Amino acid sequence: MKASIAIETQRLLLRHFVLEDAEQLASVQADPIVMKYLRRRNYQETLATLDWIFKCYDKYGYGLWAVIHKADNKLIGRAGLIWQNLPAINLKDVEIAYLLAQDYWGQGLATEAAMAIRDYGFEVIGCKRLISLIDSNNIASQKVALKVGLTYEREVTIEEKPVDVYGIVSSC
Ligand SMILES: CC(C)(COP(=O)(O)OP(=O)(O)OC[C@H]1O[C@@H](n2cnc3c(N)ncnc32)[C@H](O)[C@@H]1OP(=O)(O)O)[C@@H](O)C(=O)NCCC(=O)NCCS
Repeated sequence: MKASIAIETQRLLLRHFVLEDAEQLASVQADPIVMKYLRRRNYQETLATLDWIFKCYDKYGYGLWAVIHKADNKLIGRAGLIWQNLPAINLKDVEIAYLLAQDYWGQGLATEAAMAIRDYGFEVIGCKRLISLIDSNNIASQKVALKVGLTYEREVTIEEKPVDVYGIVSSC
């Protein structure tokens, strides 16, 4: 099945997931180092992730996209926008999310993706505000958020873990 492209950057394509991506996504989501601050997912759980992603596409018109590294045409992660409605912490916002396979860390790729996702959220979706929810110990992710222009707002507790809320408001 041919998947449509949502975003293109210098080094990346962010395209809609298709079911055929399950194996590659599962190999990233099963890596304990990649998932240190997130819940690890095996192949079956990755199928459930994909089902949820497809529902997001239908319901909101956006969601998490497959990150394709143009130089080698490999699926190297997932990134995009997630609608978050968490009454327990009084939060209703669209989140910028990103996750890459270890081999591709440290090259500025997450920052490149997140900047383009931020612009898409403001310019295409029309969001007035975007956030990121980041484990308080996840320094690499916090650095990406800061480089993309988000600032630290507050610490909350989600599933008994400390999580930092980073946010940015549209300048338009
Ligand atoms: C977070 C993640 C997406 C960053 O990807 P990346 O492509 O390596 O990010 P970038 O290269 O754009 O930037 C990472 C920054 O963090 C820094 N960094 C990386 N690991 C770090 C660490 N352990 N401690 C401190 N800084 C760290 C890098 O030096 C870089 O900052 P710099 O540009 O100032 O040098 C990647 O590590 C990842 O996929 N982690 C697992 C999934 C995850 O935690 N996702 C976020 C969920 S909120």
